[in-house]
Amino acid sequence: MIKKAFITGTIALITICSFGQKINSRQAQIATVFNTAVQQYSILLDSANVQMKYPRSSKNGYLTYVTIEEWTGGFWPGALWYMYEYTQDPKWKDAATKWTESLESNQFNTKHHDIGFMMYNSYGNAYRLTKNDKYKAILVQSAKSLCKRYNDKVGAIKSWNDKPSLDGKDTMRYPVIIDNMMNLELLFFASKITGDTTYKHIAIKHAEKTMQNHLRPDFSSYHVINYDTITGKALHKETNQGFAHNSTWTRGQAWGVYGFTMTYRETGDKRFLNTAIKMADFFINNKNLSSDKIPNWDFNVNQAGYHPPANAQAINLTYVPKDASAAAILASALLELSQYAGTKGATYKSIANQILASLSSEAYLAKTGTNNGFILMHCTGNANRLSEVDKPIMYGDYYFLEALLRDQSNK
Ligand code: GLY
Repeated sequence: MIKKAFITGTIALITICSFGQKINSRQAQIATVFNTAVQQYSILLDSANVQMKYPRSSKNGYLTYVTIEEWTGGFWPGALWYMYEYTQDPKWKDAATKWTESLESNQFNTKHHDIGFMMYNSYGNAYRLTKNDKYKAILVQSAKSLCKRYNDKVGAIKSWNDKPSLDGKDTMRYPVIIDNMMNLELLFFASKITGDTTYKHIAIKHAEKTMQNHLRPDFSSYHVINYDTITGKALHKETNQGFAHNSTWTRGQAWGVYGFTMTYRETGDKRFLNTAIKMADFFINNKNLSSDKIPNWDFNVNQAGYHPPANAQAINLTYVPKDASAAAILASALLELSQYAGTKGATYKSIANQILASLSSEAYLAKTGTNNGFILMHCTGNANRLSEVDKPIMYGDYYFLEALLRDQSNK
């Protein structure tokens, strides 16, 4: 019954689009991926419901999960909301609601900065699609929890608690990672619905500080900046998940493009738009970006002048894995950026469509019944720990579905 309704929807889409061959084939591509996702996520949903844990990746052929504490929990309900948005099938709404509400206690989580990912991707999508008021209070409390990690002297939100640097030389007391730009959307949302500008003020301060210290003159990005809380100065500029301190970890660069694009949307401040454009240009014009537009996990692996820090285990890899999750995040970001970037917009849209075509091809899209129920293959989580290398990863799926929905609605 569900399958029939979905297939009917797919046929209708293709018919509606039959006036233009190009649009028609893009819509057909989107339908193919969601059709695969219906099959795959039915498998994943059964497994998750048994374990009552959040699907994350695979290891030695087995599905891996995370608990409510970990940063990726919100991508699973978020992806289920995207399934509902596309198919309008109540099966996905019920699943998305159940898995979103399972995260409720995280609204008080102040252990790391990832509450934005956890709560905005789950409850944020839930509120956007249902307008259920009870989700608002949870999102506002989540924003309050995130603000507890803000230090005005530094002017940024602390990403992780005390953490040894990758090479073991220092303990970072105030590490801020480029990924943290993604958590700001929760703060902008909280200001909009409460009228209290405190959240937005913190988000803007954080984005300004990130522009100041995470970006190099060519608009490539450092992964981690460690700050001194007494002086507010940047003490160390290094990597944790990239190939070298001076290299460009591609997922980090993609987080930056997405985060600054969103910050421009929420502020109208051209400095953030300029940063998003320059970061995007660094990515899409990079000579090391392969012709299918799916990047390696870092742009500078094994290149002269880039030296892995001690303890970085990526040097033990016998090949250079790609990161399809970085491509998915970038595609989603470029589709939004294309609306704000004037004459550059057409290029960004075209690159996003090339990425989505690659990800929708058999080189990256899983065959039904494989890939432990995930949609995308060939993501890389943390190469320096040889963790989730060349595997499916939940956040890769999430941003892929988001990008397809953005493409479909031409947003
Ligand atoms: N935020 C962690 C990562 O992108 O792997």
